[in-house]
Amino acid sequence: MKTLHVDLGERSYPIFIGQDLFRLVRLADYIKGSQVMVVSNTTVAPLYLAQIRSQLADFNTQSVILPDGEKYKNLDVLNQIFDALLQNRCDRHVTLIALGGGVIGDMTGFAAACYQRGVSFIQIPTTLLSQVDSSVGGKTGVNHPLGKNMIGAFYQPQCVIANITSLNTLPDRELSAGLAEVIKYGLIQDAGFFAWLEAHMTDLLARNPQALSYAIERSCQCKAEIVARDETEQGIRAILNLGHTFGHAIEAGMGYGTWLHGEAVGAGMVMAVELSYRLGWLSQQERERSVTLIASAGLPIQGPTTMSADEYIKLMAVDKKVEAGRIKLILLKGLGHAVINDPENGSSDSRRLIKDVISTCQAQ
Ligand code: NAD
Ligand code: GLY
Repeated sequence: MKTLHVDLGERSYPIFIGQDLFRLVRLADYIKGSQVMVVSNTTVAPLYLAQIRSQLADFNTQSVILPDGEKYKNLDVLNQIFDALLQNRCDRHVTLIALGGGVIGDMTGFAAACYQRGVSFIQIPTTLLSQVDSSVGGKTGVNHPLGKNMIGAFYQPQCVIANITSLNTLPDRELSAGLAEVIKYGLIQDAGFFAWLEAHMTDLLARNPQALSYAIERSCQCKAEIVARDETEQGIRAILNLGHTFGHAIEAGMGYGTWLHGEAVGAGMVMAVELSYRLGWLSQQERERSVTLIASAGLPIQGPTTMSADEYIKLMAVDKKVEAGRIKLILLKGLGHAVINDPENGSSDSRRLIKDVISTCQAQ
């Protein structure tokens, strides 16, 4: 088992990465009071809830099982968590446990941030995407019909338990979606890791535990470093959003859940790479290596045919990075080096360029 740390002063916490962790990590060490509420969904609970509950015999443990899917990541379904907490008379010392992928993690974290103005929570991410990204760093929240993740809070967990064994039951499509965020770290921050991914993509797709362990560890290290420097995204943390502004537009535009988050990020990263190339910041070879790696992970490298460039722009204007109506994008200046860019620096040419890139990167 590997242990990493997210260094945030009194809000610091460990990330455990390894096999068989539902048995090896003692949950009780991270629970403060006597009440526990496990939040999971209809897919993950039948697989893993009993294992988690078997560790919690000494606590007053309840569970709430939400419907499964991105389309349920909203305020209505969030309320089911509050209903369960209140019906079970949970007090301010209750600990929430998020058992599931990023949807469950984001919703449980937000419920923990709000319930009685803040209670403890533990992240037990069970998808690759949630193990390498969403469970780390404290971004929590829900979607709004007009914008992805628009309602939320920064709220850190007590610990993160990334049990690689739980990835054995993950569908292939979800594994590929998780690889999008893994590739992101190579692109934004670590050219050596990018090259490692080129060499080991077959092992990752075959779920080789050593390869998965290294990819999760390196991804979490990258994320923990960035989060420690900029917890609430005043600056550098925004680079974690490479491809996300395009991707969020695809998710919202196609209807939440139609494209998986990781798939939308995959196609969105291709758009960011293409724009960086057109600005002269990436070479043709770097562009090709990036697109080839994204495709090799089983991810789409083109956006949906049914969305026009104008629809993208409308949705991209609801992004959290927007300032005074101007879209900001994360772009690349060489592999492993991201910049926060304001391509709309006043000129109508720049918006035309973004639209042109979107059209080029759409399936014909
Ligand atoms: P998800 O939570 O919808 O999980 C994907 C699917 O896999 C679901 O059907 C789920 O029930 C199922 N599943 C989960 N674990 C399983 C397992 N071990 N075996 C079998 N099936 C399993 O999606 P996700 O990709 O984990 O997360 C995407 C969400 O994360 C999005 O809402 C995105 O906005 C959010 N996100 C948040 C952050 C953040 O920093 N908070 C970062 C990235 C993404
Ligand atoms: N996934 C982006 C972030 O955590 O900041």
